[in-house]
Parts: sequence; C-alpha cells; structure tokens
Amino acid sequence: MNTTIIKEIISNSEAETEQFAYSLAQTLPRGSVVALNGDLGAGKTVFSRGFARGLNITEPVSSPTYTIIQEYPCPDGGYFFHMDLYRINDVRAALDFGIDEYLNDPESWSVIEWPNRISTILPPHTINIKIENIDDDSRKITITNIQSSS
Ligand SMILES: Nc1ncnc2c1ncn2[C@@H]1O[C@H](COP(=O)(O)OP(=O)(O)OP(=O)(O)O)[C@@H](O)[C@H]1O
Ligand SMILES: [Mg+2]
Repeated sequence: MNTTIIKEIISNSEAETEQFAYSLAQTLPRGSVVALNGDLGAGKTVFSRGFARGLNITEPVSSPTYTIIQEYPCPDGGYFFHMDLYRINDVRAALDFGIDEYLNDPESWSVIEWPNRISTILPPHTINIKIENIDDDSRKITITNIQSSS
C-alpha cells in the first residue's frame, strides 16, 4: 500500500498545535475519524482540545485515559468523540465497549489517541495523523491517508 503524505507541518508551541487542529476540524465533515499517533506526551490531547474548539465546543477537554471515551455534544448537533485507547489491549475489548457505533456515527467526529490498538477495524476513510517530538516545544505533525504501523 502507498502512503500519501497529505500535509506536513512543524508546530513550535502547544498553541500552534491547537490552532492546526482547530483549522482541520473546521474543514472535516461529520462522520470524520481521525487516528492520532504519537508517543506519550507528544501532544495528542493538546491536538484533541484544538479540534474540539474547531467544532465550537467550549467545555474543557482533558485526557480521557481513565474513561476511554468522552462525548462532547456539538452546538449544531452530533458529538465530538474523544477516545484514548491506551488501556485497551485489543480489538475485542474495543468492540466490547461499542467502538463500532462511535466510529460509524454519520453525525459526529471521532478523534482517537493510541489508534494502533484497533488499526484493523478503523474505517477506510480514517485520516491518519502522526505527532513526533522534535524538541521540548516543537513537534512535526504529518497527515497521511493510511494508518501507519508505528
Ligand atoms: N508544539 C507542541 N504541541 C503540542 N504540545 C506541546 C508542544 N510543545 C510542548 N508541548 C507540551 O507537550 C505536552 C503534550 O501533552 P499531551 O497530554 O497533549 O500529550 P499526549 O500525546 O496526549 O500524551 P498521552 O499519550 O500521555 O495521552 C503538553 O505538556 C504540552 O504543553
Ligand atoms: Mg493524551
């Protein structure tokens, strides 16, 4: 399979990462699924917060690590589903909490931290994003068309 790089940017601050995610959210239609790859502390939750703001959600957005999924209602209907699959071991565990229904909700947007847990069941239209550490304040953010294995 070919991986096409759709966009690659350097973010030099938390605010820039939020802004990037904010703009992206404003361009993505309902039903979009974003797989957010990156190490611990890369900035996945920062990105998710910016994404929520781009959907006009004003509630605080924090790491859902202990809840797996947080649902934020969007002002114009539908939801922003923020998932953190760090504690999910395999596809079976994800299906057990009903991940399929979230990912296939045509009214809502999903952003998934640690998507590699469920790479085999991500929808074909999933947008794949990787956040890599450059230094303390800088990150490389890459959008590709398919899920990477890392
Ligand atoms: N350019 C940047 N973009 C995003 N975050 C940055 C940037 N520079 C520094 N940071 C810092 O990196 C940290 C990112 O934390 P965040 O919780 O978003 O990571 P995460 O990828 O969600 O980690 P985890 O895997 O533990 O959920 C924050 O403390 C943030 O201030
Ligand atoms: Mg996080």
